[in-house]
Amino acid sequence: MSAMPSFPSGAPVRAMLVLGTRPEAIKLAPLARALAGGTEFEPVVVTTGQHREMLHQMLGLLGVDVRHALDVMRNRQQLSDLTSRLVEGLGQLLRRERPDLVVVQGDTTTALAGALAAFYEHIPVAHVEAGLRTGVLDNPFPEELNRCLIGRIARWHFAPTERAARHLRAEGIPEGQIFTTGNTVIDNLHWALAEGIGTCAFRTARRRVLVTLHRRENQGARMHAMGRALSRLAERGDVEIVIPLHKSPAVREALLPLTGRAGITLVEPLDYPDFTATLAGCDLVLTDSGGIQEEAPSLGKPALVLRTTTERPEAVEAGAARLIGTDPEAIVAAAAALLDDPGAYRRMATAGNPYGDGGATARIVTQLSEDFAAEVPSAPVPLLPAPPVVGGPGPYSTA
Ligand code: UD1
Ligand code: UDP
Repeated sequence: MSAMPSFPSGAPVRAMLVLGTRPEAIKLAPLARALAGGTEFEPVVVTTGQHREMLHQMLGLLGVDVRHALDVMRNRQQLSDLTSRLVEGLGQLLRRERPDLVVVQGDTTTALAGALAAFYEHIPVAHVEAGLRTGVLDNPFPEELNRCLIGRIARWHFAPTERAARHLRAEGIPEGQIFTTGNTVIDNLHWALAEGIGTCAFRTARRRVLVTLHRRENQGARMHAMGRALSRLAERGDVEIVIPLHKSPAVREALLPLTGRAGITLVEPLDYPDFTATLAGCDLVLTDSGGIQEEAPSLGKPALVLRTTTERPEAVEAGAARLIGTDPEAIVAAAAALLDDPGAYRRMATAGNPYGDGGATARIVTQLSEDFAAEVPSAPVPLLPAPPVVGGPGPYSTA
């Protein structure tokens, strides 16, 4: 008898992968490819269209076959409107498709809506990149809240690091539902670099500084000031700064004034092979991105994190990244300190990568396969710790 997962009826397990933004596509692509390459699972990939151009430029290159595409993006979309469009659209799709599980990744509005809609349809949820926390509910905004809420819903919590797993345990998630896997972003990075099809965006032999900014909590006056800091850094004359500009109008407003500055090149979002080749070809990274904080140490690139909090302290602790904040003086000083001190640079560049060995996807597939073979998810409602009894006889349940 084969141990092929058969929930509920002998057919392959139907796993709906819900993704809507660029990083979700990158981090779920290895799982989509792995599930499609085997016989145990049938991947049903749904793109929500939370991002449009930035998502579409990824999918073909990542080898992901999309089954359903929603089209929810609006210009300058508000979180509440986006969330309601997503929950409604995904709910309708789940009722039509009735997958055996829904897989969401990270902490975007798409991920939260996917988990919530699945919960409403009594479909178990697997959360990839579970357990990241800053401990500050509105920073990053709204992602910290999103990932906490998904953590209440998910049946499987695939934590990228041991620290993330500890956060989940501390929140009372049962041990048997937490799996430390590494981050799938590293799996995909290995895959992309092995494909070797990208082109590096840097053009000169000067010190190469790659910059990306997009976080909502950095937008507005703060991001304008960060743009001025980049301008000051370029005035050194020995650097080439490349900024792939996020499509968000708020980001463009803040950074487009840098157009034409000597030493600064603004480019449209790079496709994934070109971005990974550019990252591999740079000397230094300045970013508020989550994924790039994980990729840079893997390629030996010091990363200065332009945020006031990070849910990825592992690289900071390892010495591969530094949390700089958003103050322009601090940004210029931190970049200069690295560019001018070969010893400090070398220490960061050789600190290593704490985000995984490239085997995260295989661990996730194995776990899901074992659990479906054992029909574990036949109770799709996740286990939660018993609430503390606060006075009175409680708990108020007949169970
Ligand atoms: C979202 C995620 C964030 C993630 C980021 C990745 C949420 C709450 N935030 O933030 O966690 O780090 O994606 O990039 O889910 N836009 C376009 N074209 C595109 C993509 C976006 O025009 O291809 C514009 C839209 O007008 C939108 C704005 O960018 O209003 C912002 O996009 P949105 O998805 O709302 O938030 P992000 O800041 O991208
Ligand atoms: N990325 C890309 N092209 C770019 C900038 C980033 O392909 O021009 C990739 C990068 O490799 C990383 C991911 O996009 O894997 C990060 O996405 P983003 O910074 O938008 O989101 P976050 O990781 O902060 O959620």
